[in-house]
Amino acid sequence: MQTLPPVQLAHKYFSLFPSERDPLWQDPCEDKRHKDIWSKEKTCDRFPKLLIIGPQKTGTTALYLFLGMHPDLTSNYPSKETFEEIQFFNGHNYHRGIDWWEILTLSCKIRFFFPPEIFSTWNYLYIDQRIYLNICCVFYSFDGPVSFKLQTFLFILENPDPPDLLAATWGFQIVLLLLQFSTTAPALIFICLRLAQLLVLDGQMLKTEPASIMDKIQKFLSLANVINYHKILAFDPKKGFWCQLVEGGKTKCLGKSKGRKYPDMDPESQGFLREYYRDHNIELSKLLYRMGQPLPSWLREELVHTR
Ligand code: A3P
Repeated sequence: MQTLPPVQLAHKYFSLFPSERDPLWQDPCEDKRHKDIWSKEKTCDRFPKLLIIGPQKTGTTALYLFLGMHPDLTSNYPSKETFEEIQFFNGHNYHRGIDWWEILTLSCKIRFFFPPEIFSTWNYLYIDQRIYLNICCVFYSFDGPVSFKLQTFLFILENPDPPDLLAATWGFQIVLLLLQFSTTAPALIFICLRLAQLLVLDGQMLKTEPASIMDKIQKFLSLANVINYHKILAFDPKKGFWCQLVEGGKTKCLGKSKGRKYPDMDPESQGFLREYYRDHNIELSKLLYRMGQPLPSWLREELVHTR
């Protein structure tokens, strides 16, 4: 048998298997062989445990603020490049490896993070594979080219525990935000094989009753400290949204770019969108039913209008 020095060997290997140039990271702590060679300074509880999935406009920034108020929860370190979002799963950051990701997420508290990059329309199939392998979940798009995803989705429903997929899990707990009519990105629905680890929330309700939403999240995560958000959030009439209550009874709200006032949607556009999302909404309701998740109020209302 012939071999080569390591670098030449690597070049040879990747010339034979070019598709493997692109890494697909998995949780090193899920596989004993990986764990055994993992540096002693690195521990398995440093990775984020909570993943928040929500397309743009679903209230992710507000949720980020509210989660950050909880003593048991902490976000990733703010990154100058990406603000609150690490942007790990897309672009060059993924190539920086899980060590880079781990540094940004270092903590012993429950870390949460938002991977908004998974909603990029132009490369979501690609990212999908990374998330799929990383956390053993698939996306199902209700917009755009859905057929591939629909097949995957049906496969998952029929085979709820494919062992080869489960082997690759990162074991996150996941919060998914749903909002009526996704405006800027395709509405992606996240189907997790470990359904018990998925909590679906109504983005509309986050606007009107954020404290109840936070109660649900705390229960879902079985947090040691249960915080009464009714006492630490206050409705700001000027802003027209719920904000953080700070000293002296004042409120700290999100900036001007979040929580803008819009005129009501005209009935024609409303009717068009209702028709456009009709079948998807029916599918969504069936799916949520199967998952034992409650239907968001807006979805119930949509279904009433569905003939
Ligand atoms: P606008 O950005 O159109 O004003 P995201 O951060 O995911 O992009 O979502 C932004 C949207 O969150 C806002 O829409 C607003 O409708 C919604 N939102 C929900 N709760 C909010 C809050 N407490 N303060 C501000 N915006 C909130």
